[in-house]
Amino acid sequence: MGSGIAHVFAKSGYPVTLCDVQQSFLDRALASIRTNLGREAAKGKLPESDIDPTLARITPVISMDSLATTDLVVEAAPERFDLKADVFRKLDSILPESSILATNTSSISITKLAALTRRPGQVIGMHFFNPVPVMSLVEVVRGMATSDATFTAARGLSVKLGKTAVEVNDAPGFVSNRVLMPLINEAAYAVMEGVATAESVDQVFKLGMAHPMGPLTLADFIGIDVCVDILRVLHEGFGNPKYYPCPLLVRMVDAGWLGRKSGRGFYTYNQS
Ligand code: CAA
Repeated sequence: MGSGIAHVFAKSGYPVTLCDVQQSFLDRALASIRTNLGREAAKGKLPESDIDPTLARITPVISMDSLATTDLVVEAAPERFDLKADVFRKLDSILPESSILATNTSSISITKLAALTRRPGQVIGMHFFNPVPVMSLVEVVRGMATSDATFTAARGLSVKLGKTAVEVNDAPGFVSNRVLMPLINEAAYAVMEGVATAESVDQVFKLGMAHPMGPLTLADFIGIDVCVDILRVLHEGFGNPKYYPCPLLVRMVDAGWLGRKSGRGFYTYNQS
């Protein structure tokens, strides 16, 4: 999601420092941003002549130290608390005192991440949705200590990116994934129990409820591993067995069937 977030900031005129742990990930991100900007240009949503200047606003880096003068960071590391905690501690130690630390977490407590820093009032959730250039929502999540000034800044920024900010308080999965993940989980149970094929489950939702993608196509799109990680956060956070990840999803992760990104999930994908 980091590349999509960098895409929308750069397209809105902001200079962006895109940080990842390997040069190959950065190369892939920039290639994907170029493709997606090209897609927008082909649809007449962006002048062709804006593609190169937009890409030029993105500086790829592999060291977090390069973020030392940044006003706002949107962290988009994988959905594991320990990993995000390390990133937050490091960012807190290098960023200027006035900087805002936003996280694109899908489910992890903003309040817990904020408590790891010396600036809990300046920590907030800015939860974007895939594909980021297309989806108009940012779920702006207030932790217990998030200040009104930080919230106002994050909401204003979302609007400048052409998005609609919806204010949500901190609870496992916020609103989006608290509601979406049980749907995906239950759809996986329906397949596991032989109630219907993945195709049939998806057709029910596409044709019966006008969802653009059925829940299992969406699970592949999000990543089966990400879905399982989020379900675990919900299960642990609420202590309610209804959030326990469906064994089929867990087995798929064990098999490396992570959805689109691995070429196989509920469906198979051409990796070229
Ligand atoms: N960048 C820029 N534009 C893109 C794009 C991208 N990555 N992907 C698609 N598009 C554009 C296309 O150019 C096209 O534009 P027009 O409408 O102007 O023609 C439009 O999006 C639709 O794309 P397609 O015609 O290729 O395909 P589609 O009609 O099947 O739509 C989709 C694709 C937008 C992904 C649609 O299927 C959809 O909305 N799916 C649901 C997505 C969703 O639910 N996302 C949220 C996931 S949850 C999440 O992200 C958060 C979390 O915490 C897990």
